[in-house]
Amino acid sequence: MGYDLASITGLLAEGKKAFESATDVDALEAARREYLGGKGHVKGVLGGIKDVPKEQRGEYGKAANLLNKQLTEAFNAAKARVGAGASSAKPGIDLTKPGTRREVGHAHIITQTIEEIVEIFGRIGFTQVEGPEVEDEFHNFDALNIPQGHPAREEADNFYLQLTGPDWDAKPVPMLLRSQTSTIQIRTMEKQQPPVRVIAPGRVYRPDTVDATHHFMFHQIEGLAIAEDLNFGDLKAVLELFVHEYFGADTRMRFRPHYFPFTEPSAEVDIDCQMFKHLKKPWLEILGCGMVDPNVLQAVGYDPEKYTGFAFGMGVERIAMLKHRIGDIRHFTTNDMRFLRQF
Ligand code: DAH
Repeated sequence: MGYDLASITGLLAEGKKAFESATDVDALEAARREYLGGKGHVKGVLGGIKDVPKEQRGEYGKAANLLNKQLTEAFNAAKARVGAGASSAKPGIDLTKPGTRREVGHAHIITQTIEEIVEIFGRIGFTQVEGPEVEDEFHNFDALNIPQGHPAREEADNFYLQLTGPDWDAKPVPMLLRSQTSTIQIRTMEKQQPPVRVIAPGRVYRPDTVDATHHFMFHQIEGLAIAEDLNFGDLKAVLELFVHEYFGADTRMRFRPHYFPFTEPSAEVDIDCQMFKHLKKPWLEILGCGMVDPNVLQAVGYDPEKYTGFAFGMGVERIAMLKHRIGDIRHFTTNDMRFLRQF
C-alpha cells in the first residue's frame, strides 16, 4: 500500500477525529487497530519511508514521524477519557441503586478494655509484655510459691495437657493451659534484671462451669514492679491512679487483707464510685495485689535482700462488665453482633 505526503495529511486528520469521537472502549479499540495497530496505517507509513525516493525521503519521514506522535497522543488522551468514564457508566449498571454496604469493623470490647488499661499503666512507665498460654507447672505454680498439693494445682481445677513433643517415645511433660497471668511475672523476671515495670494482658483457662459470671476462658491483666526500694505505698499510689483514671476521679478504694501465695502481704481491692450507684452495693472487688513474696524473687534468682516489688492481677471481663453494665460473661464469646456493636 503506497502512502504519499497528501495521504499522510489525510490520515492525520481522520485518525485524530476517530480517536476524539470514540466514546466507548470498543470504538477506541477499533480506531487504535486501524491507525496504531500492527497492520495499521501508521505502521504502513513508517514502513514506507525506505521506499521513498532519496530527495523526498526527508520530508516524508518528518511527516511520518509527526503522524505517529500525534495519533499516539490522541489515542492516549482518548484512552484516559473513555477509561475514566467506563467505571462509572458501564452499560447495564444502575447508578441510582443503593450500593453494597461494607461494614467498618472495630476492636472487640475485651480488646478495647485491655488497650485502655494498658495505656493507663503505660503513662507511668509500665511496658506491655506477654507470655505463652500453654505453660509448665514451674511457671504456673512452683515459681509462684504454690507448692505441690496446693488446692490451686488440683486436676479438676486446671486444664492439664500431656505433651510429648517431637519424640513420641519420650515421657510426657505435664503442661497446662495457664490458669493465671501471674506466669508472666516469672517469665519476665527470668529474662531481665531489676528494675522491672511491666503490664501483661492475656487469656487464662479454668474448667469452671459456664454461667453468667464464669467461663472456662477469660482474660487477666497482670502488673509487676521490682526495684530496690518499692513499698506498699507505691502499690497503693499506682492502683489509685489506675482506679481514678479508669472508673472516675470520684472513686473510693479500699484494700482488704487477703491471701495469695505469691505476695506477702496480700490484699484485694474494692472500689465504690458513682458508676456503680445502680448496683446499690457499696464495695465491689476489682483486683488482687500485694508485695512480691521473697520466695518468688528467689525462684527467679533475684536477691530478696536487695529487691522488693509489688504485683497485681485483675479480670478483664469482670472490669468490662462492671463499667459497661454487662450482665452475662457469655456475651463476650457468642459473637452476637447486636451485643458487639454497642461498644
Ligand atoms: N493470679 C491471681 C488470680 O488469678 C490474681 C492476682 C492476685 C495476681 C494478686 C497478682 C497478685 O499479681 O499480686 O486470682
